Parts: sequence; structure tokens; C-alpha cells
Amino acid sequence: MSVTILGIETSCDDTSAGVLQDGVLLSNVTYSQEIHSKYGGVVPELAARGHQQKIVPVVREALCVAGICGKELSGIAVTFGPGLSGSLLVGTSFAKGLSLSLNRPLIAVNHLHAHVLVHFIEVKGQEYAPPEFPYLCLLVSGGNTLIIQVRSPTEMHIIGQTLDDAAGEAFDKCAKAIGLPYPGGPCVSKLAEKGDPMAFRFARPNVSGYDFSFSGLKTSFLYTLRDAFGGDTHLIQPRIADLCASLEHTIIEILLKKVAAAVDTTRIPRVALAGGVSANETLRLRLREKGQHEGWKVYIPERDLSTDNGAMVALNGYLLYTEEALKNSSACSCLPFSRTTLEPAYREM
Ligand code: KG4
Repeated sequence: MSVTILGIETSCDDTSAGVLQDGVLLSNVTYSQEIHSKYGGVVPELAARGHQQKIVPVVREALCVAGICGKELSGIAVTFGPGLSGSLLVGTSFAKGLSLSLNRPLIAVNHLHAHVLVHFIEVKGQEYAPPEFPYLCLLVSGGNTLIIQVRSPTEMHIIGQTLDDAAGEAFDKCAKAIGLPYPGGPCVSKLAEKGDPMAFRFARPNVSGYDFSFSGLKTSFLYTLRDAFGGDTHLIQPRIADLCASLEHTIIEILLKKVAAAVDTTRIPRVALAGGVSANETLRLRLREKGQHEGWKVYIPERDLSTDNGAMVALNGYLLYTEEALKNSSACSCLPFSRTTLEPAYREM
């Protein structure tokens, strides 16, 4: 019998729902809140209210596009954290209500695990080639910058992380300083297309191991605005593309340098990219080129699976659901996933 999972994601400012059948993508519907752009960052209270308004239409549309009715679902997966508490509460409360009314299991999914395993979603008409274990995942988003050694779907070890700002945060904060709206990453990368990546040189961190730091880069960016333009936005305008291209170039250099060091030491030549910043075209290109040059296998998610989305939550729900189903049919010895069960998931929520 097929396993059909609805995944719901509301950890930050995207209300998203996706449906997967036996791991194959049927739908992925995302509503990105625009209200935050004028505040230069996500306002938690507004984000929670936005989810309240959109959760029903987004879930309805995801089911409709998938051609699935509620009764056909095997389970409902939802992000339980990490994320903004008000936003998470909307998604988890909605999912709980749906699970009770349909009498289907509720599966709690860790947001970061969902990003890391996004490459295991099967998309019709595309070759299915997920990473082999173990692999390294560079998870770059608005809240996280991590290098994770992924040994199995449930065994993940963080080997590097940011000591201050995340890469997405660096994009967003620098973008705000030059008058661009939130989220700054997509605006910076659009403007960077016409700029010179070597026009400005910003400070690079001197952090040992595989850890990252972006706060020095942010300060150096602000000093450049002050020293070269006296902070005057009119003077910045003609050079905005060069500023964006140089910023993007520096962030990507910092990321790739640490990934290369991690591959060298772990001797794992498989690198997967995940998280919102992985939508960045230049990062995708540079990682592909680096992979070709160094002989790594590189895995890059589709753009709408890079940022927060319900499909990645459904995939994790599917893995957890099938693990539990296999256990119940006493086939434990051939379980592909060994740790998480549905029970703690219920309790944690
Ligand atoms: O994973 P994600 O959707 O959610 C959170 O972390 O909340 O990531 C959002 C982050 C933001 O910082 C945004 O600026 C960044 O991803 N981002 C990008 C691009 N698209 C989104 N950064 C650089 N280039 C992009 N094209």
C-alpha cells in the first residue's frame, strides 16, 4: 500500500505544505510573507499572524495539486523546531488538529534534518540520484551555517558551525545597510550579476577548524560604506552592483574554503548543499566547478526545495513513518533508519 504524507512547514516566514507519495513529490506549495521586507528582518509576531492567515489555503492547495483528499493521507508531518515559537505553534497546532480529525499519526520533524535530507525527494521525470552515505552537507540559511557529516538519515554530526552570524544573515544585514529590502540574499545576488566581484575586498575570518564567522565581514562591509562613500546612499548607488558582487564573492569563498578543508580531513568526497542560501546561483555554480575540479560528487537541490518548504518535511515524515511501520510489522532487522520513533515525536510536541 502506498504511503502518502503531508508535510507542513511554518518555522519562520514561509507557510508551506507538500505532499509526497512513497517518497515521490506530488506537490509543494509555499507562501512567502512579504510584510517583513519593510522592517529589514522577520518580525516574529507578524510571522505567526501571517501563518494563521495562510495555513488553511496553503494546505488545501497542496492537497488539491497532489490530487489527494485528507482521508487518503497516511500521516501528517510538521516542523516542531528549531524556529520562531509563535510560528511553530501555528503549524504544530494546525497539524495536531488535522491529525486528530483524520485519525492519522502526527510526525514531528526537525527543521534542520528536513533541509539535510532534501536530496532524497524523488521528482518525477528527473533522475533519482541521492547522495551515498556518508556525505557532507553544507547547510546555509538565514539562521544556520553548518557543515554536517551525515552518516545515515538519523545519524548526523555537526563538524563546523558559525560562531556568530549565519551566511544568510550576512547577506541580509549587508543588504539592509545598502537599502535593499528583506530578504537581502536574492536582491544581492540579482545585483551581483552586473557587478565586479573583485571591486572591493572585505575582511575574511581567521577561525580554526571548520567553523565559520561572518560578523567581521559585516563590520568590514559597513566600514567600506563609511570610508568609501561616507555612508551616503546616493553615492553608493552607482557602485551597488560591485558591492553586491564583492560581498557575494567573499561569502562564497569563505564557505568553499571550509568545505574543502572538511573534505580533505574526512576524506568524504561527497558534498550536498541545503538551506535558503543554496538558492544562490553563483554558489551553486562555484560548488559544481569546485566539485569537478577536485573530483567530488556534488548534490544541489532544486531552487524551490532549497528554501523552507513543506516537501522536505513530508520526506522526513515519510522516512520516520516507514521506519515505524516496518517496526510494527516485525521487520526490524532490515530497518533502514534506526533511531527516531513516532512516540517521542508525540511527546516532544
Ligand atoms: O532556509 P531559509 O529559507 O529560511 C531561514 O533560514 O529562515 O533561508 C533564508 C535565507 C535568507 O537569509 C535569504 O537572504 C537567503 O536564505 N537567500 C539567499 C538567496 N535566496 C535566499 N541568499 C543568497 N542568494 C540567494 N539567491
